[in-house]
Amino acid sequence: MMKDLQEIFTARFGEGSKPTDFFSPGRINLIGEHTDYNGGHVFPAAITLGTYGVARRRDDQKIRLYSENFADLGVIEFSLDDLNYKKEDNWANYAKGMVKYLLSDDFAIDSGFEVALWGNIPNGAGLSSSASLELLIGVILQELFVLPTTRLQLILTGKRVENEFIGVNSGIMDQFAIGMGKANHGIFLDTNTLDYEMVPVELGEYVVCIMNTNKRRELADSKYNQRRAECEEALKRLKKELPIDSLGALDEETFEKNTGLIGDEVLIKRARHAVYENQRTIQAKNALTSGDLETFGKLLNESHASLKNDYEVTGLELDTLAETAQKVPGVLGARMTGAGFGGCAIALVHHDHYQDLTDAVGKKYLDTVGYAADFYEAKIGDGTKKL
Ligand code: GLA
Repeated sequence: MMKDLQEIFTARFGEGSKPTDFFSPGRINLIGEHTDYNGGHVFPAAITLGTYGVARRRDDQKIRLYSENFADLGVIEFSLDDLNYKKEDNWANYAKGMVKYLLSDDFAIDSGFEVALWGNIPNGAGLSSSASLELLIGVILQELFVLPTTRLQLILTGKRVENEFIGVNSGIMDQFAIGMGKANHGIFLDTNTLDYEMVPVELGEYVVCIMNTNKRRELADSKYNQRRAECEEALKRLKKELPIDSLGALDEETFEKNTGLIGDEVLIKRARHAVYENQRTIQAKNALTSGDLETFGKLLNESHASLKNDYEVTGLELDTLAETAQKVPGVLGARMTGAGFGGCAIALVHHDHYQDLTDAVGKKYLDTVGYAADFYEAKIGDGTKKL
C-alpha cells in the first residue's frame, strides 16, 4: 500500500526529498453512545481500517493535498496565509482547520507542505473518517515541523476543527479513540475528566463484526446537534434543584426520582438514555474485564434498544441489522455504533457463526431495505502514527 501511495505522491507532486509515511485509524465504539457530550463514559477502540498519508514539507507557503479516494477533485491547494473554510475545498477543510488552529495556538508551521492520502474506511459509514483525517494531519504537522505538541493537544484540536470549523457539535470520543488507540485494547474514557484506562479486549472465540447499512448520513449533523441541545435543556432543568454538572453525574435511581423537574416527555427520554447508557458502559467495561462476555453482549442489546426507543437515532436500517443479528445463534449482542441515523452496527459473534450472521443479516437486510449491507471483521489496531 505505502509503495503505491509513494508513487501516487510522486506522480502528483514530483520528485524531490523522500516523503514520510503515516497511518491514522478509524474507530468503533463498543458501548457508550451519545454520552461523550453528556459527561459520561465511552468505550471505543481504534480499528485497522484507516487513512494512509505520505507527506513532505515545501519551501513556499503552499499546502497541496490529494486524496486517491476523491481523485476527481484533483490536488486541492491553498496557502498558509488563507486558512478560511471554503466549501469547494471539500474534504481538505478538515486539514485546513488543523493547520489554522495549531497556528493559532502558536505552533510554528513555517512553510507549506504536501500530502497524498488514501483510506479504506468505508465512506460515510460512521467509523470516523473525518477524525481519522484530522489526527493524521495533526501528526504529520507535528513530525514535519517538529512541533512541541502533545497527543492530547492534537486530539483537542481535532475536536475543535469539528466543532468550530465544520460546525458539528460532537464530543471528544472519536478523536480520542483515534489518537490514543492501541492494538487489542478498548479505551474506557471518562469524558468529564478525560481520565482513561486501556482495557484489553480479550474475546476468546468471539469476534466483532462491523455491519454497514451503506446508508449515508448527510442529514445526521443537524439531528446530532438537536440531540445535544435536548440533553442540554434537560440538564438545565435538572440543575434547578440538583447540584450536577452533567447527566453523567446521575445514577438511574436519582434520575427517575427527578424526572418531574424536566417535565417534558421527549426531553426525559433523551436524558434517560444518557444516564442509563453511561451506567451500562461502566457495567460493560467491568463485564469485559472479568471475562463475562454474556453480560457484555446483553448490555450491547440494551444499548441499542435505548438508542432506538429513548434517543431515537437508529432507523429502519440500523434496527434491521442489530435486531436481526441479536437473534442469530452464536451472537452475544449487537448494537449501532457511532452517531446513528445510518452508518454501522457491530455484533459480538462466535467465530464459528460468523458466516451464519452475515448470511442471515445480509438476506434480511436486502429484503427489508432493498439494497445490500456490507460486513467486515473488526480488528483493533493502533492510533495515529508515523510508519
Ligand atoms: C459521533 C460523535 C461522537 C459521539 C458519537 C455518539 O461519532 O463524533 O463525539 O458523540 O457520535 O456517541
